[in-house]
This record gives sequence, C-alpha cells and structure tokens, in this order.
Amino acid sequence: MYVSEIPALRDYWYPVAYSTELTDAPKAVRLLSDNYVIWRAADGKMACAVDECPHRAARLSQGWVEDGNIVCPYHGWAFDGSGACTRIPQNDPDKPIPPRARTLPMLVEEKYGLIWLCVGMPREDIPILPELEEGGFTLIHEMMELWDTSAPRVIDNALDISHVAWTHRNTIGDSNASQFESFEIQRDGHDLSARISYRARVTEALRKNTGLTGEYTIRVTNSKLVQPFMYKDVMEYENGLRHVLYKTATPVDDSHTLFCQFIARNDAPDAEKVAGIIDLDRRIQAEDKELLAGVRPEFPLDIQTEMHTRADRMTVEYRKILAELAAENSDVTPDEAWARPFLAAAKAQRTP
Ligand code: FES
Ligand code: CO
Repeated sequence: MYVSEIPALRDYWYPVAYSTELTDAPKAVRLLSDNYVIWRAADGKMACAVDECPHRAARLSQGWVEDGNIVCPYHGWAFDGSGACTRIPQNDPDKPIPPRARTLPMLVEEKYGLIWLCVGMPREDIPILPELEEGGFTLIHEMMELWDTSAPRVIDNALDISHVAWTHRNTIGDSNASQFESFEIQRDGHDLSARISYRARVTEALRKNTGLTGEYTIRVTNSKLVQPFMYKDVMEYENGLRHVLYKTATPVDDSHTLFCQFIARNDAPDAEKVAGIIDLDRRIQAEDKELLAGVRPEFPLDIQTEMHTRADRMTVEYRKILAELAAENSDVTPDEAWARPFLAAAKAQRTP
C-alpha cells in the first residue's frame, strides 16, 4: 500500500512547517503529492491554497504577498485569503473578474508552534496535547526534516519497541537487553495504546538528560497512536521524570515524509540541558532515518507479506487500523474540493 491509495488520509491535519517559518514571504509546502502555498492574508490569519495559478499554472509560492493577497510572479494576478482572484492586470479594469479565476483554498491552522494543514474534510480536530494544555510541562521542538521513506514506515518504526536494542545500539539500545515483559494492548477504534516496560541502557548522555543513575533502568512507556500518522510516548522514569515524546509523520508523497518530533517534560530543563536532550534525540532519530531510507516505502497492510514476533503486536495492530482506513472513502469528493473550507465551517457549526 502507498499513502496515495488511502483517500481518507486527506481528512486529517498534518504539521507542514514551524509557525516561525512563515514570514512576510509565501511558504511552499507539499502534502499527499500536491503542492500548496501558505501566506498571511489581510486579516493577519494564515491562508492556504493550491500552489498553482489558474492562468498559466505558475507556482504562486514563487510570488509575493501584497496587502494580504498573494501575487503570481508570472503575470501579476492576485488572490485573496479565500482563493478568489482580486486582480487581473491584463483585463479591462471595468469588467468583473470571472468567478472561475480562483485557486482552491485549504484549511490551515496554527497550534503548538506548528502550522497544520488539512486538504480534505477533517474527521478529527488537531490533536489536543493534554500536557501542554494543563501546564506543568515544557514544550521543546526537536526537529522537522524530510525523510526518504513513507509515513506509515515512520509510525511503524515508532510503534516498534524491539528495534531500540538494535537500531539504536550506538545511542541508547543494548542488544543484550532485547527482551522485555509481555504487554497488553488496548484498542478502541483507531485508538491504540500499550504499557510497556523495558530495560534501557543508561549512557552518559542519557544520565545527563534524565538525572538517572546506574547502568540500567526499567523504563515504563505508555505508547499510543494518536492519529494515523501521529505517535505519542510517555516515558515514566523511576525518579518522577515524565518525558512525553510526540512524533508526527506528514505524508509528503508515497516515498517522502516530513518527520517532526517534539517533547514535553515536567522538569523545566535549562537551556544547556535542553541542548543536550535535543542532541541525543537527533542522534537517535538519525539512526532511524538512515535505516528507513533503505526500507521499501510500500507498506503491506496484510499480515502475511512480512513476518512478525510477539514484540510486534503494536505494529500488527497498526496495519489493521490502516487497512480499515484504506477501505473508507474520503469525506470529500474531488468535485467538491473548492468547497472544503466552507463545508468544514458548516460541519463545525453543526457539531456542538
Ligand atoms: Fe499566474 Fe499568469 S500564470 S498570472
Ligand atoms: Co527508533
């Protein structure tokens, strides 16, 4: 299966950039094999549209923003935050602008320092991150980078507990400690979670970041699938530290993924400690990135094609969840594409 074969994936929100990346200039992003442009519209709110001018198909993201309108660099047509064309310099200024002169608007939001994009009809809101809503936790953005792999492979890797001892043998893993206690999985709809205990090798870097002592620690991980391409992991250490890890895998296309990782911690680390935490996590993720670049991006949804061990129960369940999603249709047909933001607003009004 390739992500382009699951239409329902359009109906979720995905992070496409950090909020700070959107300056006065338009920002080009790519999601599910299509190109989009994001800019600040007249009301100061973000706007997003298909990155293609209806005149001669130029990339609007190569243009600029003028009074909240995005200006096409090819012949100067301008479009407002709703995608409607507001200027055709070549036409008689007394003639009305034809309604067909528009680019398709998309839903875009800012939350938790990220720009989230939905190119369908959202089935769920942008995930609420309880740690950040309730306070007591510090948000640390660790990385956002393009990976040469597919989004399901990235989440499959996150749910895969037995790879840590091997893939991460040079950072936190120890292949002598590759066994762990059996664990229970809870599944409710698309919601998947498990409580897993395993031994982590406490290296110098991990000791610094966590305050842990000794060579090994039993780490309890509350592992959870938040959305098809969003994963959460609450690591509870013996010393009371809670290290909440979020990973999102934005499906750029069938073989590229925008990987984003951020954490929430209950110990208010200072700048030096934050730098150490980010450094270790980047080194760990570089190991996954390199490994996954060599894995075929196609992701089998049946459970016969690949083989599984008792440690792979989360990832087997993940395949079933994606298979169910693959059997569903998107809530929006291509004909209705132009109307998505309006349909979504109407839906939001209907649901209390
Ligand atoms: Fe955009 Fe001509 S292609 S104005
Ligand atoms: Co890994």
